[in-house]
Amino acid sequence: MAVATKKIKEKEAKIPNAKPEKLSFGFLSQQRIWSRFVVILGVITYIWYTAKDGKETPLAKQKDVVQRRGQVFECDSNYLTEVKQFANCEPKKCGRYISDKIVTTNEVEVLLKIAKRGFALGSSDRGVSILDLHSGALSFGEQLVNIHSFVESKNILNPADLAVYKIVKAKIQHAIAETFQIGINQLQIAHPTFFSRVTNLDPKTVHNEYWHVHVDEDVNKSFHYTSVLYLADYGREFAGGRLTFLDTQKTNVTLEPRKGRVVMFTSGRENTHHVERVASGTRYAMTVSFSCDVKKAIKDPVTPK
Ligand SMILES: *[C@@H]1O[C@H](CO)[C@@H](O)[C@H](O)[C@H]1NC(C)=O
Ligand SMILES: *[C@@H]1O[C@H](CO)[C@@H](O)[C@H](O)[C@H]1NC(C)=O
Repeated sequence: MAVATKKIKEKEAKIPNAKPEKLSFGFLSQQRIWSRFVVILGVITYIWYTAKDGKETPLAKQKDVVQRRGQVFECDSNYLTEVKQFANCEPKKCGRYISDKIVTTNEVEVLLKIAKRGFALGSSDRGVSILDLHSGALSFGEQLVNIHSFVESKNILNPADLAVYKIVKAKIQHAIAETFQIGINQLQIAHPTFFSRVTNLDPKTVHNEYWHVHVDEDVNKSFHYTSVLYLADYGREFAGGRLTFLDTQKTNVTLEPRKGRVVMFTSGRENTHHVERVASGTRYAMTVSFSCDVKKAIKDPVTPK
């Protein structure tokens, strides 16, 4: 105490006109202001983060280039019961993963060429168009045609392009098997597997209202693993059309499509999702579904004779 007083006295002596009482009071008040500032900042940060939680968190932005990124979840019990019927098909963990490194730029270009040639056979002003190479079904809203009925089909389904299609399909199949640690031979490519082209126009049928929140397994029991390969860039070629997973009432996880990006996820309730309505531009994608049930396997597409 005596030393402190002495020090203050010395300071006082050094600084002309200094008032030690005032000085110490000033210091305390400054500290109080700072501590209040810190508390207020804490409150603001807390509100900011809770508000943020109430909105959405990105799984990946379009500009990101992701080797592999994912989230794991407890599997939904119905989903587990379903996949447990099949040997080697239960995922080590349920979840969702993305990768921008599975499919090459060249492969994307070939697939896009197949899709564009197919869709060119029909009217281009539809909100939703679907091309299923396996069944040959080409739909534009209410209209459904078989691609094999067109002479152009030989060109669209040419052997070289179909070979690329099969390679990409096999790559995705391997990635899913590796990611979820299940048997590669257990994974069957199944219905629905298709190219889609979506614009901001209203779809002509309720069936094509892609934006509703849903669970893939509820749409079709044979749906066990879902994947989508994006063939267009969000923010550049179209607006809207992001994939959104609804995790809790508070958090939505969104994925911005990127050309060549693959998203793969277990098809149960743990991956309840929807696609935002496309606001402008054209969104091309390829959905590839897998089933653990050998009976649900679909045949590879072939070049018409
Ligand atoms: C999450 O997405 C759903 C479907 O679009 C929406 O109804 C809900 O309001 C969103 N939740 C949040 C917290 O943004
Ligand atoms: C469900 O998948 C099976 C097997 O791929 C298919 O035959 C059936 O048409 C699908 N059902 C619906 C409602 O899409």
